[in-house]
Amino acid sequence: MEIVINDTPEIASILASDIVEHALTAVEGLVLGLATGSTPLAMYRELIRRHVESGLSFITARAFLLDEYVGLPNDHPEAYRQFIAREFTDHIDLPTNGLRSPDGAADDLAAAAQDYEQAIADAGGVDVQILGIGSDGHIGFNEPSSSLGSRTRLKTLTNKTRIDNARFFEDDIGKVPRHCMTQGIATILEARHLVLLAFGEAKARPLALAVEGPITAMIPASALQLHPHVTVLVDDAAASELSNADYYRETFEHKPRWQTF
Ligand code: PGA
Repeated sequence: MEIVINDTPEIASILASDIVEHALTAVEGLVLGLATGSTPLAMYRELIRRHVESGLSFITARAFLLDEYVGLPNDHPEAYRQFIAREFTDHIDLPTNGLRSPDGAADDLAAAAQDYEQAIADAGGVDVQILGIGSDGHIGFNEPSSSLGSRTRLKTLTNKTRIDNARFFEDDIGKVPRHCMTQGIATILEARHLVLLAFGEAKARPLALAVEGPITAMIPASALQLHPHVTVLVDDAAASELSNADYYRETFEHKPRWQTF
């Protein structure tokens, strides 16, 4: 696991964009895993800028969302499919049929979850998966106690997550759905490169538990320790509870030039 501590979220987001740009040029038909929430927004803005100003193209890429609310109509502005279109994919040249998301409005949610797993497998798996971390340690919407072997399925959101996300629903927790469909932890771990972004003090504790604590279903992001290729891009505030921060800084400072992400 490579942990890179940056002065600001903007600098971390530029590094994350570099990873995506490099993958786009290195892999024909790149499969991107996209996250929603506030954390990746600066990275999406930077990728849009590169598309508009430098012609960075997503035309042969495909993308899969990590998760989706259950109980919102597909056209609800806070449905994650709408969110990612508004914040990112409507502003680049990703083909419309190149974006897939779990169908949280399906009549048969179990079948929709299986279809989603199959669609990821049919695409050849995810090459680069962008991840945020919840204040309760979740990745995707895999809440504490999620099986480390889980696949895409229906989950119940914790109240902590619903309170965290109420800001998207006029600060009314009553409007935040209780259920979601999320890629499982085992699904996420099959992506070839995981890029975790974490910014701000509220992420300091869950981040420290995830990368320096024991692997436990109670901190689902700790499962990333099992993956051979993880890049963790954080700002100083999110790094403030890492006990090994000096080592991570020194490692990055002396990273050999030939070694990429
Ligand atoms: P945030 O959410 O980016 O809005 O903080 C992260 C997450 O819940 O995974």
